Amino acid sequence: MRIIRDVREMQVASRAAKVQRSTIGFVPTMGALHAGHVSLVQQARKRTTLVVVSIFVNPLQFGPAEDFGNYPRTLESDCAKLEAEGVDIVFAPPVEQMYPAGATTTVNVEGLGEMLDGRSRPGHFKGVSTVVAKLFHIVQPDFAIFGQKDAAQVAVLRRMVRDLNMDVELIVAPIVREADGLALSSRNAYLTTDERRQALVLHRALERVASHRKSGEISAANLRKVALSVLAAEPAAKLDYCEIVDPETLEAVEDVSHGALVAVAASFGKTRLIDNLLIGKG
Ligand code: PAJ
Repeated sequence: MRIIRDVREMQVASRAAKVQRSTIGFVPTMGALHAGHVSLVQQARKRTTLVVVSIFVNPLQFGPAEDFGNYPRTLESDCAKLEAEGVDIVFAPPVEQMYPAGATTTVNVEGLGEMLDGRSRPGHFKGVSTVVAKLFHIVQPDFAIFGQKDAAQVAVLRRMVRDLNMDVELIVAPIVREADGLALSSRNAYLTTDERRQALVLHRALERVASHRKSGEISAANLRKVALSVLAAEPAAKLDYCEIVDPETLEAVEDVSHGALVAVAASFGKTRLIDNLLIGKG
C-alpha cells in the first residue's frame, strides 16, 4: 500500500492508472476509521481495480466553534486497517497543499447546502462540496463511495456531480451500526458512558418511526410526532432537528409513500450526532 502525501504525486499516480485502464474506486474520509468506513472500502474493492482512500481532516467544513482542533487523528492505525483491506493508495495531503495561501475558489450547492446540517452548521456543506470536488479532480475516480449515514451530504454531492458534469459514479453504502443500534461515527469516541447510552435514543426514535410506517402510517406529520415523543423521553438529548424530507431535494414531504428520509440530529453533552432512516416507496 502506497501512502501519498503530495497532491502532484497523487495526480501522477491516477494518470498512470488511467493509462493502464484501471478503474479507480475512491473513498474520501477524515480518518479515525471504524467499521463504517471499512464497509465503504470493501464496496470499492469489490468493484474496482485500484482503491484510493483519502484521509484529510478538512478545515473548511468545520465551524469556528467546532471540533477541528480536537478531531481524532489516528493515521497509523488507520493505515493498518486500510492495508488489511487491500487498499492500494492512501492519500493524506497536508492542509497547506489542499488550501495554499490565497485559495479563494469554492463550490457551493446553493439551496441544498443550507438544509438540515447546513442550516445548523452554516458553511459546512460548502466546505464538503469544495473538498470533494478538489479530491475528485486530484484522484480522478470512476466510482466514489459514500455512506448513507450522512444522508444530506449524499444529496449535496449528487447534485454537485450532476450540476458540474463530473464524470464519476456515486455509490451509497448502508449505515453500519453497533450491535445495540448506535450508528458508528468517529465522534462516538467523545461520548462518556452515560452519553453513549443516551445517544441510543436516536436509533430508538427511527425504529419507532419504521414500525409505525410498517403498520400503515403515511403521514409525515404523524411519523414526526412519533419520533419527537421518543426523543423527548431522553431529556439529555439536545435536539437540533428531526425532519422528514425528500432524500434528493431535502424538502419536507407530507406523505411518505413516495419514499422519504427521516433525519435526526442531537447533541449529547458536547457531542453532536446524526442518524437517519430511509423509507422506501410504497
Ligand atoms: P467521514 O465522517 O470520515 O466519513 C467518511 C465516509 O464514511 C462518509 O461517506 C460517511 O458517510 C461514511 N460513514 C461514516 N459513518 C458511517 C457508518 N456508520 N456507516 C456507513 N458509512 C459511514 O464524511 C466525511 O468524512 C467528510 O465530510 C468527507 C466526505 C470525507 C469530506 O471531507
